[in-house]
Order: sequence, then structure tokens, then C-alpha cells
Amino acid sequence: MAVPILTAEEADKMRVAGKLAASVLDMITPHVVAGVSTGELDRICHRFIEDELQAIPAPLGYGGSGGVPPFPKATCTSVNHVVCHGIPSDSKVLKQGDALNIDVTVIKDGYHGDTSKMFVIGKAPVLINRLVQVTQECMYAGIECVRPGAYLGDIGAAIESHAKSHRFSVVRDFCGHGIGAVFHDEPQVLHYKTRDRGIRLEAGMAFTIEPMINAGKRDVRVLPDGWTAVTKDHKASAQWEHTLMVTETGFEVFTLRADETPPWV
Ligand code: MF3
Ligand code: CO
Ligand code: CO
Repeated sequence: MAVPILTAEEADKMRVAGKLAASVLDMITPHVVAGVSTGELDRICHRFIEDELQAIPAPLGYGGSGGVPPFPKATCTSVNHVVCHGIPSDSKVLKQGDALNIDVTVIKDGYHGDTSKMFVIGKAPVLINRLVQVTQECMYAGIECVRPGAYLGDIGAAIESHAKSHRFSVVRDFCGHGIGAVFHDEPQVLHYKTRDRGIRLEAGMAFTIEPMINAGKRDVRVLPDGWTAVTKDHKASAQWEHTLMVTETGFEVFTLRADETPPWV
């Protein structure tokens, strides 16, 4: 399976889609407070994506086969021990100390921007804040490996090494992915080290880096709804995600937010 190389025109469309996806997370941030439900947060994002951005929420109606229904909401909201693909719900009301990931994917002019951010509600245990921060550092460490000629596998090795140095574990059941006109494309971007260093990166390849890091063991289970992935030990999990492209000199992150100061700037 070949990894698509974006044309300059496609890269422009990815730049737009990425910026819009990031703007959803900026928009929703002041709404993320104790007492709000993930269902309400999803409705606000859904309306904003369609009405303000004139874009399509990619998760809505995505996937589903073999008895699993298509994803029913516009965003994924994953709280505490939910690793990813949490389904927004009016009955899931946020409380002090919760850690929430909101994962936004928009389609604009046929191209995808995919990004997620962690929110900690009020005062939380030190462990939760450390997990959230180290997971963001893991994502940045992966991104900083990206340049033409580097190996895809270097990304996962850097992520795993940083997570292990804090005695956290890396989820293996989900990975980053190529992205462009297709939501989940080649290549698979593993967040852990393997024997095989994988393909060499080339300018114009676009993919996500979206490590899921657990406070406890790495093992995951999917609930009977067919989507919600939770840690088997019910300990906390965190995730951050950016969409980026390999450039001639390194990388360009398409989904940077206003509230973010990455280590390379
Ligand atoms: N945004 C998720 C990702 O990072 C995928 C969500 S697919 C859904 O790849 F169907 F669960 F919404
Ligand atoms: Co993704
Ligand atoms: Co995502």
C-alpha cells in the first residue's frame, strides 16, 4: 500500500482543514467546566462546525460494520479511564478532577483535519496532571522526529521512551494514521517501538500522531457499544493529537491552536 504524497494544492487544503479543526478546540475550551455534559459539548461543536465553519464533522456516521453501528456523534469525548472513541452523552456530566479528551475531525473542501486536546476539570490529583502533561510531551517528542529520510518507527520509539521514563504505558490497540482526502489512510503510525523501523518519510506525506498513554497497564477493552475503549484496569488514560505533513526541512503541524506553545518554537 502506497503512502499518498500531497500536491501543493492538497497541502493548502489540509492547512485550511487543520486550522478549522484546531479552531473548534479553541472555541469549546471556555465551555469545558464542571456541570456540563459531554452531550452538550458535542452539540456546541457540531453546530459550530456546520454553521460557522461550513464543514463536515467526520466522525458522525463514520465506520460501523459487523454489528457495530456507525459512530453516532460529531466528536469523540473520552473521560478518565476512557482511552478513546468515547460517545458524547447528556448523562455524562463533568465533575471536578475529571480529565477529558475532545477529539475533533472536520472535512473541508474534501480534506481532513484531525486533532484532540486534554482538559482537566478544576483541581485534580497530581497523577492526572502529570499524565496529561507527559502525554502531550510524548506527542511533541514524536512530532520532532519527523523529517525527510527519518524512519516512521522513530516516532513510536521516541514516544514510548518518554512514556516509560515516567513509568506510564503506551496503548497499542490504536495508532496514528495517514490523512488527507481519506480519514484513515496509510501509513499506520505506531506509538511504540518495534523491531522494524518502518518506511522512510518523504516530503508531502501527511499523518496524525495521537499517543494514548495510560497511568496503569496498557491493556484496553471495547465496551458493548462497539466504540468506547476503556483501560482494563480502569486507571486513567490521556491522549493528544495533531495532523502534520513532512516538509523538505522537517514538519508542518496543520492543527496548532492559539493556546499552545510547542517546544520547537
Ligand atoms: N478522530 C479519531 C482519530 O483520531 C477517529 C474517530 S472515528 C470515530 O482517528 F468514528 F470514532 F469517530
Ligand atoms: Co486521528
Ligand atoms: Co482524532
